[in-house]
Amino acid sequence: MDSINKLFDLAKQTRLNAYAPYSNFKVGAAILTSGGKFYTGCNVENASYPCGTCAEAGAVAAMIADGETEIGEILIIADTDCILPCGNCLQKIAEFGHKDTLIHSADTKKVVKTQTLKDLLPQSFVLKEK
Ligand code: THU
Repeated sequence: MDSINKLFDLAKQTRLNAYAPYSNFKVGAAILTSGGKFYTGCNVENASYPCGTCAEAGAVAAMIADGETEIGEILIIADTDCILPCGNCLQKIAEFGHKDTLIHSADTKKVVKTQTLKDLLPQSFVLKEK
């Protein structure tokens, strides 16, 4: 199986575990690191709404917890036309990505669009250049 199909399958499966009783909008994410490892996340909402976390944040946290630090590709899936990472998540992806990091948007059937981090966040906040 090629990496895009694996990212899709992992994100789709993880999305089923999303905890989204307030928005009813389930999101899944899967990361492929530059070193070839896969990590997943889903959104986890909270009765105190700002405590909720996005799917991308969960996948980034799993990657970091496992000692990996470089995002090569990330796939985000939701039951909508073209899910894109929110601004907060773009900044999280930028912390561990590079300008050519691929961001795939998928609906529940297929990948609908692939863009780079540079496309979606041409400039991001950095304390120092990598
Ligand atoms: N959400 C994500 O998980 N990722 C995104 O890129 C956009 C939004 C979640 C947050 C919240 O649980 C729900 O989708 C509705 O905003």
